[in-house]
Amino acid sequence: MSTTTLLRALRPSTGSTSILRIRQIPRYYSSKITVGGKEYPTDEYTNLPPHIEACVGRNLHLSPNHPISITRRLIERRFPAPVYKAHNTLSPIVSVQQNFDSLGFPLDHPGRSRTDTYYINEKTVMRTHTSAHQADTFAAGESEGFTIAADVYRRDAIDRSHYPVFHQMEGARMWSRSEVPNGDIAAAVRADLEKLPKHDLVVEDSGPIFHEGNPLQKAHSAEECEAIAAHLKRSLEGVVVEVFGQAKKAAIAAGEAKEDDAPLRVRWIEAYFPFTTPSWELEVLWQGEWLELLGCGVVQQSIPDNAGTPDKVGWAFGVGLERVAMLLFGIPDIRLFWSKDERFLTQFAEGRITKFQSFSKYPPCYKDVAFWLPSSSSSAGGQVAFHENDMMETVRGVAGDLAEDVRLTDEFTHPKSGKKSMCFRINYRSLEKTLTNEETNALHEAVRTALKEKYAVELR
Ligand code: DAH
Repeated sequence: MSTTTLLRALRPSTGSTSILRIRQIPRYYSSKITVGGKEYPTDEYTNLPPHIEACVGRNLHLSPNHPISITRRLIERRFPAPVYKAHNTLSPIVSVQQNFDSLGFPLDHPGRSRTDTYYINEKTVMRTHTSAHQADTFAAGESEGFTIAADVYRRDAIDRSHYPVFHQMEGARMWSRSEVPNGDIAAAVRADLEKLPKHDLVVEDSGPIFHEGNPLQKAHSAEECEAIAAHLKRSLEGVVVEVFGQAKKAAIAAGEAKEDDAPLRVRWIEAYFPFTTPSWELEVLWQGEWLELLGCGVVQQSIPDNAGTPDKVGWAFGVGLERVAMLLFGIPDIRLFWSKDERFLTQFAEGRITKFQSFSKYPPCYKDVAFWLPSSSSSAGGQVAFHENDMMETVRGVAGDLAEDVRLTDEFTHPKSGKKSMCFRINYRSLEKTLTNEETNALHEAVRTALKEKYAVELR
């Protein structure tokens, strides 16, 4: 992309701290960028804006009274030491090798693109998932199993359930062929399965454990795969018992649900991930809806093989913490997790699930912006010069958490000129106060200016 290849010595602004929090969007990066207190060289891949860098080190998952940390601790209870070691302070800055290559992501996987991922430079990214640490953790071999809770970064939509920084927990359990009795993995895994607590969930799991579409790996026998899958599923069903049992209690205490004997229901759905096979997603029936909770599977043998631990086999999973926390605490907007407002922070205490008491029903303010993309960017040739996520980031960059929702409402290509037009509707709403007309107008004007300056769009 032409504008971003121009690496000019223009320092990215760290943003003003006026009440409005209108910020300058940097158009160019200088030759170095500081992330989490360390300097990195920039290049034409660099796309990490200051408002995202500012989230590095907030460590919501480590603040004991924060809902993200309370949720993390709740899940960790199902993965106790010494079998599972908890790693909760791994740096979010990882190599492309760690985040993608080590996990077998194909080179053309959309997740690698600059429209989806924050690059510090060509070789270095903000981790997009906690799976980025799998290979290293296998290689270190400190424990048979582990959990990794951390902040992860993705360019994405703006709405009440998406935020460019969120939290995940990874978990894995491996068995070593050279350490289990007689090298019999299947027997060892089955013995460990017997030790897991039983539960009274209703589980729907209809398909075969593996088949052509969700295949067994060459390196595993059918018996091994079946045992590992059974251990994986029982372990994760235990997470549902822990988390949703608590959620149900909290809902009953808040008068939102009745004490009934309807047991919790879950179902296993086949899935695909580059780093597991067979793979599944676990869904939970919650307040009448099936919720996708996590992804998991039998670890692709190439990962431990390449990490220098070829005799290990096992399973892994990944779960998003915001999703679970929103449901546990009744938090309606993902921006709230980042709030520094005492009215939010003082509501929660370590080890307790309590319903969020809303303090902010401030009015929304919708504003539209329509523009023509520069003609070069609508021409054919495969290069996307303006991606919806560029819009999201521009708005988030200028308005920060005052932007609640951004939607593409119209898009068309002019039949004669071939030029492409886009129209977005932005909802400005503070979680903390009523925005005045002047304030929203100023925000919106700043968004328009940023679009014009950064992407050379023609405002309509
Ligand atoms: N990394 C995946 C994601 O971010 C989640 C995931 C799926 C992690 C399956 C795993 C796994 O370890 O086995 O969507």
